[in-house]
Amino acid sequence: MSHSAEPHPLTARRGGPLTGAALVPGDKSVSHRALILGALAVGETRITGLLEGQDVLDTASAMRAFGAEVTRVGEGEWVVHGVGVGGFAEPAGVIDCGNSGTGVRLIMGAMATTPITATFTGDASLSRRPMRRITDPLALFGSEITAREGGLLPVTIRGAAEALPVRYATPVASAQIKSAVLLAGLNAPGETVVIEAEPTRDHTERMLAGFGARITTEVTDEGRVITLTGRPELVAQPVAVPRDPSSAAFPVAAALLVPGSEITVPGVSRNPTRDGFYVTLAEMGADLTWSDDRLEGGEPVADLTVRHGPLRGVAVPAERAASMIDEFPILAALAARAEGTTLMHGVAELRVKESDRIAAMADGLRANGVRVEDTADSLTVHGSAAVPGGATVATHLDHRIAMSFLVLGLVSDAPITVDDGGPIATSFPDFLPLMRRLGADIG
Ligand code: S3P
Repeated sequence: MSHSAEPHPLTARRGGPLTGAALVPGDKSVSHRALILGALAVGETRITGLLEGQDVLDTASAMRAFGAEVTRVGEGEWVVHGVGVGGFAEPAGVIDCGNSGTGVRLIMGAMATTPITATFTGDASLSRRPMRRITDPLALFGSEITAREGGLLPVTIRGAAEALPVRYATPVASAQIKSAVLLAGLNAPGETVVIEAEPTRDHTERMLAGFGARITTEVTDEGRVITLTGRPELVAQPVAVPRDPSSAAFPVAAALLVPGSEITVPGVSRNPTRDGFYVTLAEMGADLTWSDDRLEGGEPVADLTVRHGPLRGVAVPAERAASMIDEFPILAALAARAEGTTLMHGVAELRVKESDRIAAMADGLRANGVRVEDTADSLTVHGSAAVPGGATVATHLDHRIAMSFLVLGLVSDAPITVDDGGPIATSFPDFLPLMRRLGADIG
């Protein structure tokens, strides 16, 4: 589904301390994968804690279009009856993935080795994002693909009837590329191998193993070599979705910034391929306490307590980028109030997210009186004890740009407005009520 055309501006103002528990929604990456693997499994997959954001709802609709039975049975509780590996039916209509790069790219992979044809589209943001990084490796399996000029959506894939297994080294660190290839490999005979030079989030590998696929990861000089044996019978499993560390980053950052704040974030994912933001916060001197580390549904989770305190600028090592790729916008907002300079380099991938996040953050921060430098693959933010604020930020249909500036507006001298808060519903539909319950003045 695409967003309504009507923009919905929001303004954040300085106020009192934030306190209480932030029950952030289910992890977006795990939620997409639970629906897709549920649809490819035999039997009933019961999912709890599913993120009911628009991105994931669009993936649920897509799985129905490919023939799976997908039913919401309660809040965050969904049941999927799958069709088995290779069992996808040809959808009657166009698959609209809305704003979701993860949704469209993983689903393309999941259908590319089944002899059916599907056409994919999305909103204005998704229609600008690169798809060749996915369609190039999918073509190696034998699928036929047509796209708009530049490899853009809409894309039509005629899935391979006699798929070949593939050995593919990802040219950029991307869990979406890795996952699309692995999902395509499910219906190819023999072994499909993905090699990634930098580790990226490993939810697909963990969940495939949980559903009974034979999948191994070997750390070699080339990087991580992931080998999947094709044509497994995926056996439906219950999936407990952990709370999203990327969504948690917003209330966490707000609590760090607003004097007197102390909040808890229970049950948040601590998957080591996703923890770069929290490692960086610790280096900045943030007061974070993790407790009750445990494993839930194959993913490590823990409870987090955050207290306000001063932050210092840091240089984020390029090799950490993949483990915090979605957290750079909120890190840039935090860096504006840190003591000293924060350097984020090796972050060219930010230019092809829901928006060009280097440009969106640099423009928005400058408009609000923050000193920033940006290059093709870096962003440098000079921190200061006071952020003037007072400007309206262009969010370019990007939920994380909107939430980052609303958090910064809680401590800027003058309020900060975002031109459109609508896209926040793609990943964090409860953001406004949750932030207000903690004490934030956003409206
Ligand atoms: C995701 C992978 C990342 C991330 C996105 C979710 C995933 O994208 O930015 O929000 O669930 O696999 P890339 O694979 O493009 O880095």
